[in-house]
Amino acid sequence: MRKVTTTALSAMKDRGERIAMVTAYDFTFSQLLDRAGVDVLLVGDSLGMVIQGEETTLGVTLDQMIYHCKAVARGAERALVVGDMPFGSFQITPDDAIRNASRLLGEGRAHAVKIEGGQTIAPTARRLVEAGIPVMGHIGLTPQSVHQLGGFKAQGRDSEAARAILEDARALEEAGCFSLVLECVPGSLAEHITAELSIPTIGIGAGARCDGQVLVCYDMLGMNDGFKPRFLKTYASLGEQIESAASEYISEVREGRFPAEEHTIGGALDLGDEPPSDLPIALYGRSR
Ligand code: KIV
Repeated sequence: MRKVTTTALSAMKDRGERIAMVTAYDFTFSQLLDRAGVDVLLVGDSLGMVIQGEETTLGVTLDQMIYHCKAVARGAERALVVGDMPFGSFQITPDDAIRNASRLLGEGRAHAVKIEGGQTIAPTARRLVEAGIPVMGHIGLTPQSVHQLGGFKAQGRDSEAARAILEDARALEEAGCFSLVLECVPGSLAEHITAELSIPTIGIGAGARCDGQVLVCYDMLGMNDGFKPRFLKTYASLGEQIESAASEYISEVREGRFPAEEHTIGGALDLGDEPPSDLPIALYGRSR
């Protein structure tokens, strides 16, 4: 099994192979998605919304990102792990950005970072790259700018706005980014950028012509009922399955049907004995 690297992603673009990226926020999901063959696991600051239940990503802290990156990195044997730089962690000075990105790689064990923004953030991207930190750019709808954009809205829909996004893409490639997320832009613009750039583009709500695609794992797995944007396809109905499994468990507990005999530890009752010292290992020592 070959580990996915930033250079491997570039080679995939050259060979015309599509890149599959999904978000992950914990060890278990990371392990499952990695085993399925996902190329890139993005520890997105979308965790502010899908894990923390906030309305935006703005409150996510660097320490929280490090915590989640570490868990995802432990579960990923093959995939490249990319950690989002949260709001405020890279916009103030390039030195701050290097310090904070170094923590995501060093403490969080991420292999690369993602930063939102175009031409204005390109000099910071360049400094990160010069410091040896692989950077994925993110343009179009940049959720950290939600208040400036007036909501989570598609971007680049008129020619002036589309030209500005194209300039953003050029600036980030020029700064040394190894890849670029294009979020919620017209398919024709994403196609143009993908054809012009030599680095891979990863789309979300950007049509089929990008070099790869990304979705938030909870959305893709049908765990986020209220969220049905046009670009989303759900590949499972885990939300329904979790609710129905939990209802069945609740009924069985209430009716005394769980645990059954086979879930019960057997053995003769001798209250004089000390509990066997290896009991916790026998119960919980699953191979991990
Ligand atoms: O935070 C996130 O999950 C993202 C993806 C949606 C691209 O930035």
